[in-house]
Amino acid sequence: MTPPDSFPPGFVWGAAAASYQIEGAWDADGKGASVWDMLAHQKGRVWEGHTGDVACDHYRRHREDVGLMSKIGLQAYRLSVSWPRVLPEGVGAVNEAGLGFYDRLVDELLAAKITPWVTLFHWDFPYELFLRGGWLNPDSAKWFSEYTAVVVDRLSDRVSHWITLNEPQCFIGLGHLTGEHAPGLKLGLREVLQAGHHALLAHGLSVQTIRARAKTSPIIGWAPVGSVHYPITPTPENIAAAYSGMDSVWPENCWNNRWWGDAPVLGSYPEQGLRAYGADAPRFRDSDFDIIKQPLDFYGCNIYSATPTQAGPNGEVRVAPLPAGFPHTHFLWKRTDDALYWGAKFLHERYKLPIVVTENGLSLNDWVCRDGAVHDPQRIDFLHRYLLGLHRAMRDGVDVRGYFHWSIMDNFEWAEGYKHRFGLIHVDYETQARTLKDSALWYRDVIRSHGANLFPSATPSSPTSAPASRNAGSPALAAT
Ligand code: GCO
Repeated sequence: MTPPDSFPPGFVWGAAAASYQIEGAWDADGKGASVWDMLAHQKGRVWEGHTGDVACDHYRRHREDVGLMSKIGLQAYRLSVSWPRVLPEGVGAVNEAGLGFYDRLVDELLAAKITPWVTLFHWDFPYELFLRGGWLNPDSAKWFSEYTAVVVDRLSDRVSHWITLNEPQCFIGLGHLTGEHAPGLKLGLREVLQAGHHALLAHGLSVQTIRARAKTSPIIGWAPVGSVHYPITPTPENIAAAYSGMDSVWPENCWNNRWWGDAPVLGSYPEQGLRAYGADAPRFRDSDFDIIKQPLDFYGCNIYSATPTQAGPNGEVRVAPLPAGFPHTHFLWKRTDDALYWGAKFLHERYKLPIVVTENGLSLNDWVCRDGAVHDPQRIDFLHRYLLGLHRAMRDGVDVRGYFHWSIMDNFEWAEGYKHRFGLIHVDYETQARTLKDSALWYRDVIRSHGANLFPSATPSSPTSAPASRNAGSPALAAT
């Protein structure tokens, strides 16, 4: 049961980051190149020519960073392993130094009582395998499974939480269709969806590999983008339209829930998606779904914003206009307070799996103020609103097991370089100085209080001195 004025005690409070975005050390100690190293080194691909060559230098500063996570009181940290750091050519020879880095990081986290949640693929695909066709090569699923085995053999005596792929919608769609992300290709949708099919096979084989080899009982999920619509006003028609928006596969792009979610959880592509993609649908055998569909322990979702939706005259899905000046983040993503509410609700109803919010947060243009602190009241307010929405979903019966803030620290935001700051910890990229933002201290209190500080009206501050009439309507105060 979810208490009305806090989150359940077992709820996991964490934060996340990804290898290429924070590690730096792009060619250190035998690491192979990834497609992100390749893309970021090409002119004009990343804002102001930024690269992840150094990033937050986390590869060298991991001890300090785990110390800061400890200060925030994180219960869990979602990290990703860089495939070419472990296998410089993607398959074959293992780079002991690279694997050793994750080995030490896991030990440091455990010593700090922080549970590692390990994502196997957060976009840094090995360059050498890209030369062999990348995700377009049907062998890519086997390559990923070989890599999974190496990581699982080494870490699974201490790691039990695994996430296979992060956001296939992005590394396939932005990476192979629009070309904004690595490897920067602009293929036809047919080839893109074929690459996507191979990635789904990779997910399935990887889950099988984890289950077959893990030394401690594994808890496995994946982390697609939750593509969320919310009703602009909660009329039955608008709610139905929002659901229909989340349920639909739209032609000509990869941005949807069900093409990606149905295959691994339900074992087929959605009929409506096959119709929408038509001749662009990938070639597959029905038996592929025996691999793709594997039992999962949770459905991860990365949710930042939602599309305002209203019903058209015949109930069709329409994007609802927002007034000028509607709140938005530095990325110009809208602040949509009910995004986690509707996203968690839809995905839980559809897939009947426990939900973990594997990413949520916002970019701001934070800086270190004259008093030496980083004041980010908008991050605090944003998170407060979104977490109340998530709590409301849980009160409605949605089984949500955890929340990972994106991100633990400011980092390399892909094609946007260092333009955006998503962290709870501010990073000065020149000096690598770290500063806990106000939001980090606020999040520490959220964690400590199991979210009770999100419900100030439920906190009986001074019930005896307050006049009785002022307390009317507050069940918590009435009960004291
Ligand atoms: C994603 C990735 C993260 C991003 C974050 C902010 O969702 O794109 O998982 O690596 O940095 O989402 O855009």
